[in-house]
Amino acid sequence: MRIGILTSGGDCPGINATIRGVCKTAIHHYGMEVLGIHGGFKGLLELDYEVMDDRSLTGLLTMGGTILGTSREKPYGKKHQVPGVDKPALLKANILKLGLDAVVCIGGNGTQKTAYRMAADGIPVVGIPKTIDNDVAGTEVCFGFQTAVSIATEAIDRLHSTASAHKRVMVIEVMGHKAGWIALYSGMAGGGDVILIPERAYSLEQVTRSIEQRMQRGKNYAIVVVAEGVHTPIGRRAGEYVAAELARLTGVETRETILGYTQRGGTPCPYDRILATRMGAHAVELIAQGEFGKMVAMRGDNVTSVSLAEVAGVTRLVPVDHELILQGKQMGVCFG
Ligand code: F6P
Repeated sequence: MRIGILTSGGDCPGINATIRGVCKTAIHHYGMEVLGIHGGFKGLLELDYEVMDDRSLTGLLTMGGTILGTSREKPYGKKHQVPGVDKPALLKANILKLGLDAVVCIGGNGTQKTAYRMAADGIPVVGIPKTIDNDVAGTEVCFGFQTAVSIATEAIDRLHSTASAHKRVMVIEVMGHKAGWIALYSGMAGGGDVILIPERAYSLEQVTRSIEQRMQRGKNYAIVVVAEGVHTPIGRRAGEYVAAELARLTGVETRETILGYTQRGGTPCPYDRILATRMGAHAVELIAQGEFGKMVAMRGDNVTSVSLAEVAGVTRLVPVDHELILQGKQMGVCFG
């Protein structure tokens, strides 16, 4: 068999470990040939690829980013169409031209939606979920998330001492797109006093009261963890808006930190390396068994798969009554 592998959408730690898991299993165990497609779906449209061999796989387990490159090209997306080019037809024709028996699509929600469209078009495809946001439906966890949570937690840990030294309110904005997973987990792991996530409406008056009560209890600073996707007035960045409003409402000196792309860069943590490796290997097993139109998924500690039809177009948000929220509330954390 000859298979293609591509990485699409925003990068995250663990993609290269997955590429390694896919390629090593395919080449060494199943005797498959693997073509690495460059720049996501763009590479399939432009026939930009390389043949993967042992040399291309050296050092991948710990390497951040993606050696194949990525793009946000969506061949089926309305906004991505170019007059005179039938991208879905070109994609299919190029897959035939390359002689691919299957395509492995590593990516987040957008990628899995494209993978679903390809499957519906008769292309043998297998998806692997990747995102720091942890918001892909059908799987309980995506690789990249644990690493991002570790980085955000370390940042929150470091903010404690400077917040305390200056008696400040420290607002930290973390990523997550429309989901609050990174904010919830890093906020709880880092002992945040306030955690704001997009899934729950918040009142800054309520947050102010909780900070005032904290100060009355003798604590001279507060840590406020804000997900980038929380609702704000148009044009205002979450961290900047919440910090400005809290400075006004509490009268306490306030600073904001926007953590940004450090959450996505660099080496994956050991948990993500293992997860990426397992998911990569499982994708090849699905291909070997002819099980297409599926996405690799985790249920508990079991690696399994789910139909792309169940995943496409669905965002996995934090349930408003998530156990960690209830526990945090009982311990005095303000969720807005
Ligand atoms: O999906 C991962 C993510 O890092 C989100 O957390 C963030 O909102 C988005 O990508 C940023 O995208 P871009 O790379 O296009 O700036």
